[in-house]
Amino acid sequence: MEKRIASPRRLSGSITVPPDKSISHRAAILNAIAAGPAAVESFLPAADCLATLACLRLLGVSWTLQERTNAGSDLAITGRGLAGLGESEDVLDARNSGTTMRLLAGLLAGRPFLSVLTGDESLRSRPMARIVEPLREMGAQVWGRNRGTLAPLAITGGRLRGIRHRSPVASAQVKSAILLAGLQAEGDTLFEEPARSRDHTERMLRAMGADVKEEGVALRLSPLAKDLTPLSLRVPGDFSAAAFWLVAAATHADAELTLPDVGVNPTRTGLLDALREMGAQVTVSNQRVTGGEPVADLKVRSGRLKGVVVEGPLVVRLIDEVPVLAVAAAMAEGRTVIRDVGELRLKESDRVKLIIQELKRMGARIDEEGDALVIEGTGRLNGAVCDSHGDHRLAMALAVAGLVAEGETVVEAAEATDVSYPGFWRTLEDVRGAS
Ligand code: S3P
Repeated sequence: MEKRIASPRRLSGSITVPPDKSISHRAAILNAIAAGPAAVESFLPAADCLATLACLRLLGVSWTLQERTNAGSDLAITGRGLAGLGESEDVLDARNSGTTMRLLAGLLAGRPFLSVLTGDESLRSRPMARIVEPLREMGAQVWGRNRGTLAPLAITGGRLRGIRHRSPVASAQVKSAILLAGLQAEGDTLFEEPARSRDHTERMLRAMGADVKEEGVALRLSPLAKDLTPLSLRVPGDFSAAAFWLVAAATHADAELTLPDVGVNPTRTGLLDALREMGAQVTVSNQRVTGGEPVADLKVRSGRLKGVVVEGPLVVRLIDEVPVLAVAAAMAEGRTVIRDVGELRLKESDRVKLIIQELKRMGARIDEEGDALVIEGTGRLNGAVCDSHGDHRLAMALAVAGLVAEGETVVEAAEATDVSYPGFWRTLEDVRGAS
């Protein structure tokens, strides 16, 4: 499917962004091993989270999903404790979802049966040694292609022991895999990473009765003394989905967008800091906490942006937003350098290579220098034919570029947005129509 986009004269309206993808996965997985039923209001019914639910059903977990509006679906899920999980009759297919594969691998490392996890072509090319090695060290038997570095993975779980793991990469998926295994281990598990990745797993585990503490630079988790307490919650809007509209309005000449009920967990909102430093006009109001996560209403207006340097821990806090930040940088005046983007090459696609390739088609002056993206902002982009390469975040970043470019933009393989943002193209038409 291809989508054609032209820049509207004005961009305005209020957008309800879809529920948070990371929190939706965790609400399903942690409630699946809790002792009893939970109601998850506003669960993200996108391909990635549906993959998690399908795997959980194969493991014996019962749930129902009631479709609602684009505000999300209602998930009713009944955990029967860790012991309620049973061997699946079939291969568990995580499809495009790294979160599904890595979190379930951690969980299943402690279960005394065989599990085989696979995914689509993209996921089967993504690195798995980062979870396979520590899970083996904890005592699980794990096999994978290419000497345990690539999926499909086969896991025979069993008795685990807690370890101290120093992850060479800042990764919430690795952290969560180790914590899920650690719940089932003998002795405490300690986890360290070079910068703090998103902390939704720790927050939810604590809310469900697990003992997770910060200890210096590490996290310390004690094994479960009893099964987790079910947690009913309302999932907030996904900041990573809001990010596309933040950049669209900040870079459009005449725009004002309101985004109610967006999750503003500080481990996720690095883009807000970067955009503000570039001169964007974003306001955050009505801050509150729901389900243990900070939530707020965002408002963004057109502004004149200038180039900025982004590096270190800030990159971890905006890792999924780098493609759309590159669009903002191209529309700014002056040079932007986004350093430390090596992990971005290992996402659903090589996002460094592909954002350069696709934004160049639109006239952007963008290149890589080692592990940095360097963009010479000229304040304009030209419409062009671009390809998402099947990557949802590239599809949406290119759509945003199309909303502010001169002339028509075509995004090929536009259906990739379904992975995390089912109503994306409809919403794009709505905000254009309101002009
Ligand atoms: C996610 C963690 C991040 C992120 C991904 C979702 C999660 O990946 O890029 O989109 O839900 O835990 P890494 O843990 O590989 O950095």
